[in-house]
Amino acid sequence: MITPGGPFKTPPSRRLGEAPSIAPLAASQRSKIPAFEVMRITDEIARRRADGHDVVSLCAGEPSARPAPGTLKPAGYTGPLGTTPLREAIAGHYRAWYDVEVDPATVAVTTGSSGAFQLVFLAAFDPGDRVALASPGYPAYRNILTALGVQVIEIPTGPETRYQPSPELLAAAVREHGPLNGLILASPANPTGTMLDRPALTALVAWCVAHEVRIISDEIYHGITFPEPGAADPRGITLRELDPEAVVINSFSKYWGMTGWRLGWAILPQALVAPVEALASNFALSPPAPAQELAMRSFSAEAYGERDAVVAGFGRARALILDAEPQLQWGVAAPSDGAFYYYSELGPQLERFADSSGYARALLEGANVAVVPGTDFDSAAGHRAVRLSYAAGESAVAEALERIIRFQATL
Ligand SMILES: Cc1ncc(COP(=O)(O)O)c(C=O)c1O
Repeated sequence: MITPGGPFKTPPSRRLGEAPSIAPLAASQRSKIPAFEVMRITDEIARRRADGHDVVSLCAGEPSARPAPGTLKPAGYTGPLGTTPLREAIAGHYRAWYDVEVDPATVAVTTGSSGAFQLVFLAAFDPGDRVALASPGYPAYRNILTALGVQVIEIPTGPETRYQPSPELLAAAVREHGPLNGLILASPANPTGTMLDRPALTALVAWCVAHEVRIISDEIYHGITFPEPGAADPRGITLRELDPEAVVINSFSKYWGMTGWRLGWAILPQALVAPVEALASNFALSPPAPAQELAMRSFSAEAYGERDAVVAGFGRARALILDAEPQLQWGVAAPSDGAFYYYSELGPQLERFADSSGYARALLEGANVAVVPGTDFDSAAGHRAVRLSYAAGESAVAEALERIIRFQATL
């Protein structure tokens, strides 16, 4: 006879028609962090498309994927910090882009920059330590740190500091919360796309050095920048150049468009190399070997040229949004210096909606355009803002803008 649960054995508490005999065990307190809203919307977009809707998504921060060239060799584990040739190639990238010398032995290859955050936060901070970060900001910093028992100090930022921390804002945070152990920086940032120029970054580093604060610099959007011709530091400024105690984190996901290969890296100060190696060898054993082999092809003149052409396309999509600002009739927008994000308050459009989540929902249902409400990035003021990702490219952005303007006109 087939049992109600099918022919398979099920745990006693799951047997249909029987009182549970084993009480469910609770999840840990530290795992009580919010999920990433963008990924939930991504799921909803897939469902709507499966139902036959023609959805334009300005939602995910993901360039269109690049096909893998050639075939890969069979792959086993590599060293916990990655293969020596890839670590050397990454060091070479710092020479090529920034004219900065990096010791390949301080490069840790990781499973995306996300893997680097876990390892680096574990190696750099203890439970109860205080780590500051800008709000609005990338939610995973806050959520990973929280899960690790680190106290997150959110620094509310706005247009006066280009939505970035400043020494004055950090000093105010110390007065309110006590001394800091760390600061997360991102330039260009997600969701705002704003960048710190050299004087602003130098002032922040000086403050952090004076107050013994470790900087973790997320440089994942370096290279996705839109500088004026002849501008200094056109790719972004690496913290490796300014602060030997900083940890620099980067990834193959954004500039190189290799999100699904799950490969990133950290450049570590000497004292963190052995701790990160020990953690990596237990947490992940090794970063993915096929991805490492493929990533070796990322640093040729041809690959840089190909990716710079993709970035030029993002630049054209960005220009479409900036040109459409008067017709959008939104509120204050962050200066979109880099990455592929445009973060703006909705201003008068919000009069008809309770918040940006309501606006985003109505836009998806009424015009099949997906944008991300700012709530994920800023719990205090994000309900007034949305983020557009122009990684979708010029034609998707043009179509989305047309639909948004038409949608707003019919309200
Ligand atoms: C600012 C920032 N850092 C890190 C990541 C994580 O990227 P990955 O783990 O693919 O390297 C993202 C992804 O969107 C991001 O926006």
